[in-house]
Amino acid sequence: MVAYKSKVVERIHLPSKERRTKALEEAGYNAFNLPADDVFIDLLTDSGTGAMSDDQWAALLQGDEAYAGSASFDRLESAVADVMGFDRVVPAHQGRGAENVLYGSLLSEGDVALNNTHFDTTRAHVSNQGADPVDCPVAGAHDPATNEPFKGDFSLERARAVVDEVGAERVPLVILTITNNSTAGQPVSVANTRRVRAFADEIDATFVIDACRFAENAYFVTRREDEFADARVPEVAREQLGLADALVMSGKKDGLANVGGFVATDDEALFERCKQRAILYEGFPTYGGMAGRDVAAMAVGLREAVEEAYIEDRVEQVRELGAMLEEAGVPVYTPTGGHAVYLDAGATFPDIPAEQFPGQALVCELYREGGVRGVELGSFAFPETDRPELVRLAVPRRTYHREHFEHVVETAEAVLENRQEVSGLEIVSNPAVPELRHFSAALEPL
Ligand code: F0G
Repeated sequence: MVAYKSKVVERIHLPSKERRTKALEEAGYNAFNLPADDVFIDLLTDSGTGAMSDDQWAALLQGDEAYAGSASFDRLESAVADVMGFDRVVPAHQGRGAENVLYGSLLSEGDVALNNTHFDTTRAHVSNQGADPVDCPVAGAHDPATNEPFKGDFSLERARAVVDEVGAERVPLVILTITNNSTAGQPVSVANTRRVRAFADEIDATFVIDACRFAENAYFVTRREDEFADARVPEVAREQLGLADALVMSGKKDGLANVGGFVATDDEALFERCKQRAILYEGFPTYGGMAGRDVAAMAVGLREAVEEAYIEDRVEQVRELGAMLEEAGVPVYTPTGGHAVYLDAGATFPDIPAEQFPGQALVCELYREGGVRGVELGSFAFPETDRPELVRLAVPRRTYHREHFEHVVETAEAVLENRQEVSGLEIVSNPAVPELRHFSAALEPL
């Protein structure tokens, strides 16, 4: 059911093919370096790129810019308490700021952090504390073709094997990322979350949920987990999040805001530690690197994220894009995730080996062919890991419509048709931080 109409619009245009080819070359064949003006349909990320509601824009005007004790912070605190069930909030400028605050408070040199799958900024922040990030995805998580309901789950088996190897005292932190962005946006069941809670208790670790896409995850739970077949999204969200000791949140996803993030917890001691670190890195703990108006917009967005009409429209729209692509014969990861469709570049370009980045080749061709921007999540973004060659088409919230998707599908079909002419790529310049190379490295076609 359609849940919105437009009040403000933004012009977009498709640059000529000649311009697109030139832009690609100038960008070093890295879509992060493309000027957004040269992009027609931008599916690079769902982070901070969605449309805010009229209520959120109204909240912007009412934002309280007081340095300390801002009324906008009170609105955020009450939204986090109502929607997520936690009483203590430390705001941060965005998710990775919150990761720095929280993981910097929980980890030391030589520790090990377990996660269903670390998102790239999470991995980098864990490493930055001198700790070792270890992924524990379930078997089949990286198989694009199996049709299981909760491929985002955390593997207790793998986690136990790590603990047996390194000792429980070296594992002070267990993280659950919902939905699991680095595993094709797949959801995590509440049953699995309960088991992770029990496991964290067993090894005396802090249990953190990365809640970026908590509302999308809760929607999947209502559709796929029998126990919650009659439950509403807000109830599921509170039940699942309530199992954690702390949340780390990017408001740019299910906060429906253009910027912002926070840590939430009920643990008084952890709250105090996070607050002190936040003052150093983010700002006074009632604004945390955000303008008061952005805090206010995020507070409204959090409440909208669990509204039934919104969340159904959102997840079903992404599912529809996946179904349209699949129907057109484009290889996609199944089932479709909550925020994005993940294309299977390995199946699209079987003749391009992993070391020539078939995913990045697909990103470049989608742009060259139709001005569509996606992002590679395969051997280019995750060197030395055994992952499928995926390209993520992330759908910004409340932004695109069926006509935009039809263009995306036609573009992908055209790329598929000309696949014999596409070559792999090689890296010609690399940045200093290897974990983040895909954001800025330059490439050339072979
Ligand atoms: N955790 C997860 C699971 C994320 O997906 C992201 C961001 C972050 C943390 C960091 O949040 O961007 O606000 O600093 N993901 C974006 C993406 C960038 O495109 O998937 P941030």
